[in-house]
Amino acid sequence: MDIKLIQLQKHGDERGKLVALEETKNIPFPIKRVYYMFETGEDVRRGFHAHKELKQVAIVVRGSCRFVLDDGKERVEILLDNPAQGLLIESVVWREMYDFSDDCVLMVLADRLYDESDYIRDYEIFISEVAK
Ligand code: TYD
Repeated sequence: MDIKLIQLQKHGDERGKLVALEETKNIPFPIKRVYYMFETGEDVRRGFHAHKELKQVAIVVRGSCRFVLDDGKERVEILLDNPAQGLLIESVVWREMYDFSDDCVLMVLADRLYDESDYIRDYEIFISEVAK
């Protein structure tokens, strides 16, 4: 599977570091929604879905967590622990997140508003969508 990790430019000086996110520039779509997860329990595994259309970029702004991405052919595990790195998650990719550090803040940028009808929450249905 072609995993796209976007390297985000860090603007650093003696005051600290800054990363800017701009739609269609370093984020490869118009940003319609941003959400973030924090205070996630250490044994929690979440996600367990794919999307029909939605594209997303996940950035761990603080701490670390692991992703599983599964395109129906291959399953890849990725550690996100760098706030200057964005993981591009295309549509019709099954994702799971786990191993959240205590301090993890996982921010996600999305190209659409929240729409439950865009979710594929059943792995067997996901596999049949991939086959189409
Ligand atoms: P959920 O889909 O269970 O998160 P995940 O599958 O990524 O672990 O979302 C948790 C709750 O938050 C659920 O009630 C739906 C709601 N939610 C929104 O209202 N807007 C959003 O943009 C997202 C991602 C979730």
